[in-house]
Amino acid sequence: MRLFIDTGSVREVEEVAAWGVLSGATTNPSLLAKEESGPGEAIKRICELVQGPVSAEVVSRDPKEMVAEGRALRTLHEHVVVKVPFSPAGLTATRELRADGHPVNMTLVFSANQALLSAEAGATYVSCFMGRLDDISVDSTAVLREIVETLRPGGVTSQVLAASLRHPMHVVTAAKLGCEVSTLPYKVFQAMLAHPLTTAGIDKFEADWQSKPEFGQWLEELTSGQAVR
Ligand code: G3P
Repeated sequence: MRLFIDTGSVREVEEVAAWGVLSGATTNPSLLAKEESGPGEAIKRICELVQGPVSAEVVSRDPKEMVAEGRALRTLHEHVVVKVPFSPAGLTATRELRADGHPVNMTLVFSANQALLSAEAGATYVSCFMGRLDDISVDSTAVLREIVETLRPGGVTSQVLAASLRHPMHVVTAAKLGCEVSTLPYKVFQAMLAHPLTTAGIDKFEADWQSKPEFGQWLEELTSGQAVR
C-alpha cells in the first residue's frame, strides 16, 4: 500500500518527504484554509516536493463548474489529481474529466454503493473516510472491507484510498484490507515512527560503542578512507 500525506502544509510535506516514504499527497479545502499561503502556491509546492499524485479539490456543486474548476486545477502542475466530492453532479463531472484524460479522486465515499458508482464513473481513486465513519459509530473497517470486496471482483481499475485516518491502527487495517493507498495526517506519520524498544535499542548501541573510544577513532578513519579495514 502506498502512503500519501493528507495536509495543506508545505512544511509537513517537506519533513515527511525527506524520510523517503511519500508517494503522493491529498489536500482539501479545510486543510488549505488552515494555512497562511494561498491554495495555488501550496498545491504547486506540494506537487514539486512529493513528485507524485496530489489531490486538489473542486468546490462547486454544479457539474459544469466542477469540470471547469478541475481543468483549471490541472493547469497548476502535472501531478494534480482532481478531487471531486461524491454526488450525482460529482459523478457527471468525474465522467467528463476522465474522458478528457484527467485523473480524479472521488472523495467523501462512505458506502460500497457509492464506491461502485464512483468506479463506474471512472474515478482513478475512491476515497473512503474511516475516521468520520467511526465518529458516528459506524464500523469503518467493515465498510472499507465491503468497498474493497465489492470493487475487486468487477476488475475495476479504481484504486481504494483510505482517508480520514486518525491513528496508526487505521493505516494497518487499510493495508491488511488491500487498499492501494492510505492518506495520513502528519501526526499519524509521527505516531507510526514511535516504539519505546527502538529508542532504547539505539541508546544502548550508542552507549556500548562509546564505551570503547578506539572504536570511534576507527570508524572516523574508516569513514574518511584512512583506516585499515
Ligand atoms: O482529506 C480528507 C480526509 O482525510 C479528512 O480527514 O480527519 O477531516 O475526517 P478528517
